[in-house]
Amino acid sequence: MKKLRCLVTAGPTREYFDSVRFISNPSSGKMGWHIANAAERAGWETTLVLGPSGLPDASCSRTVRVVSAQDMLEECLGLFCDTDILIMSAAVSDVRPKVRVGQKVKKADIDLNPQLERTPDILATLSQMRRAGQILVGFAAETHNVLEYAAGKLEQKNLDCVVANDVSAAGLGFASDYNRVCLVLRGAGTVDLGNGPKEILAEKLVGFIAERFVKNL
Ligand code: PMT
Repeated sequence: MKKLRCLVTAGPTREYFDSVRFISNPSSGKMGWHIANAAERAGWETTLVLGPSGLPDASCSRTVRVVSAQDMLEECLGLFCDTDILIMSAAVSDVRPKVRVGQKVKKADIDLNPQLERTPDILATLSQMRRAGQILVGFAAETHNVLEYAAGKLEQKNLDCVVANDVSAAGLGFASDYNRVCLVLRGAGTVDLGNGPKEILAEKLVGFIAERFVKNL
């Protein structure tokens, strides 16, 4: 039987002002890196698209390293039509400078009011192209109204599941080895996966996707 193909994104993106200064966030890539390993162990042929991170390649079929939201979009667009399961855990920067200067700008010349523009919404773009049978899982890192906002993303981006990530407590979420997650499902309420090491939560998430969605493919 043909192996299912899984695409996982992880890590931050960097949106450069000049050759050394950028907009980003503290995502380490750990959550998605563990998901990619768990997906491969589940027997899915898995590609990890990883933003700037100190992590080594994951032990899945392929790790592709990218820098910006535009790079991540282009990689994902190239892989999406052959993807059965998309798990989008990357913390994509929401904005980028309108202008990027090729060299390092001298301190005295830095624009103190740079113009910003929105980055492409990768998950929303892919979701608009989805074909029957593809499973789309998004993430939502929130500090308040966590389940409500996650449910909004489920609807807006037409997903099967959103991993609602409560990042309000110190030591959980961004850059930590631990996380707290609850799954928000289309028309089927929520499933709390609780607190714990990202490695264990990744295993639980992949197990849940296999049981709930893959079985019915
Ligand atoms: O990397 P770690 O240090 O392990 O931390 C893990 C994490 C906290 C980054 C991760 O668990 C997580 O919650 N990732 C989502 C971060 C987030 O805030 O996403 P969002 O609410 O901005 O976006 C919602 C969804 O749309 C996400 O699936 C995101 O990947 C996607 N998105 C967002 C913006 C954009 N331009 N394109 C996108 O595809």
